[in-house]
Amino acid sequence: MPFIVAIDGPSGAGKGTITSYLAKKLKLMYLDTGATYRCVTLKFIKEKVNYKILEENTDTKNTDSKEIEEVRNKIEEILKNIDIEFTKDKIFLDGEDVTHVIREDEVNNAVSQVSHIIEVRKAMVNLQRKMSENKDVILEGRDIGTNVFPNADVKIYLDASVEERVKRRLKQNLEKGIESTEEEVRENIIFRDNNDKTSKIGPLRQAEDAIYFDTSNLSIEEVENELYKIIKTKKKQCKSIESAYITTPETLWKRMSRAVIKFVLSSLYRIFYRIEITGKENLELDEGYIICANHVNYLDAAAIVLLNKKYIRFIAKSDLFRFRPLAYLGRVFNIIPIKREKNDLASIKICLKALKNKEILGIFPEGTRKGLEKNVKVKNGAVFLASKAKVKIVPAGINSTFKLFSKLKINYGKPIDIAEFENEDNDWIEEASEYVMNQIVMLTKI
Ligand code: DC
Repeated sequence: MPFIVAIDGPSGAGKGTITSYLAKKLKLMYLDTGATYRCVTLKFIKEKVNYKILEENTDTKNTDSKEIEEVRNKIEEILKNIDIEFTKDKIFLDGEDVTHVIREDEVNNAVSQVSHIIEVRKAMVNLQRKMSENKDVILEGRDIGTNVFPNADVKIYLDASVEERVKRRLKQNLEKGIESTEEEVRENIIFRDNNDKTSKIGPLRQAEDAIYFDTSNLSIEEVENELYKIIKTKKKQCKSIESAYITTPETLWKRMSRAVIKFVLSSLYRIFYRIEITGKENLELDEGYIICANHVNYLDAAAIVLLNKKYIRFIAKSDLFRFRPLAYLGRVFNIIPIKREKNDLASIKICLKALKNKEILGIFPEGTRKGLEKNVKVKNGAVFLASKAKVKIVPAGINSTFKLFSKLKINYGKPIDIAEFENEDNDWIEEASEYVMNQIVMLTKI
């Protein structure tokens, strides 16, 4: 799985400098998405595309005008054939080095309008996604975290006050020998902000889960260092989660570690709780199966795994693998990670393979701790897997407050044959999941 960082924010917030520094330091591919819009703009200028009439006629009712239709057709043709290529330090448009030309005034003055054309936006978003495919990448732009990669691993929104950005732009212009007055620069920044924020598609907006950074009173180095730390930690965690999807081989060392950890921890359970287990005979199936239990506490999955002679693989949220000690335990016990917010096909594949292999899986259908109390809808995953792998579900009710020296009771119920619930009706899976959960609840009351 590639690692994706999205850096958004208004122009002049320091995105370019900061992103290219982070890309180098963190070994990520750097994608300046503004440059893709700049390339299209340059092409339009070269091909004399009268894109301005689209701006003047944003109302689509006017699209039956012949002239507009011709422009749209020309734009579509250009977008179909445009060849934009980024190398480490150069940008090529149709094979020609345009690294510097796209930063010149002619493009500067037109790019905002061009980037608001629907066809251009769609084509560039597709291109940006394609360029990032299967790569660890950091993208800088306006709509990366909200539109291009709404599932990016890290989202940063860089901001700075208008006054600070005016100061920075004046300094830049002075360095480049460009004449400009403070008033002109201020007007230009406010105009661009407004344009970026009010764009009908892909407007500049902070994603809800983005980290906000105001760079006005910070030096570039301070921001770089802070972001470097944040992204590096997250990258490590993401890579650790990804590696959890590769089940490591069952070496002797792993088996021994599992046995030792199991012995030590189960002894602690027996010291600190009064253990009572019923219905163990329900676990004696000559095939793979799924144990479904209620989830009240982090200690309950461990109780099922540790207080059982059988080898049970639990399915747990992938975030668990972010933390080293838990990731270690996860690997030793072959815990199967799952990304709950996504349709995690990789996880489903591992589960089906394990069940085929006659292994025992553990799942909490509540999906989260105290799900029933929180009124969370019962998850269908266990029933779905049981149906696909043609295995049974063994319900388990855990009854404990998990207070030290209290009673910890686990009651295993009769295996449930999911095949009996299957029918043409789409709702069967939900009904079966509810049934399983009801059985679990009953078992908690014994
Ligand atoms: O970041 P920049 O100044 O090079 O961007 C050039 C233009 O492209 C700017 O007007 C905003 C627009 N843009 C956009 O609409 N969406 C992006 N993801 C990146 C840039």
